[in-house]
Amino acid sequence: MEYELWAKSLRELVRDVPWPTANLANAAAFIFETVERLNWAGFYRTERNEAGEPLLVLGPFQGRPACIEIPWGRGVCGTAAAQDRPLKVDDVHEFPGHIACDAASASEVVVPLHGRAGEVIGVLDLDSPEPARFTEEDFAGLIGFARVIEEWI
Ligand code: SME
Repeated sequence: MEYELWAKSLRELVRDVPWPTANLANAAAFIFETVERLNWAGFYRTERNEAGEPLLVLGPFQGRPACIEIPWGRGVCGTAAAQDRPLKVDDVHEFPGHIACDAASASEVVVPLHGRAGEVIGVLDLDSPEPARFTEEDFAGLIGFARVIEEWI
């Protein structure tokens, strides 16, 4: 299965690199170049506002400029983070509270990333202009990518 091979390449790219931003940037570029039919691939990181509440803030990515802040629990990214579960959405326009950064996006996968204590430190987000672009195999493979990435950020 090609995702196993891709995960090995991704691990080689980030392994032993102690710079989280560099790893997120290279991982976004690798995913965008490797997984076909995407219009956006990248990361949002968990930050806290002045009231100490979590929110997602734009991190390294490939694709068009995107929304900078996503409220915890809002849209696909915020929901995946708040519920700490990977989401595959075949039609983002049907998703309640979807945040349309790029009107071209039609389907999406978001996978939470965890820190050492198991806390959600951000999400991996992939968008496609094609409805239902992501199969169950893609979904499982992308969850595997997230497990590789969170070892090195
Ligand atoms: N579509 C996302 C927002 C982020 S962008 O697509 C890059 C969402 O609803 O969470």
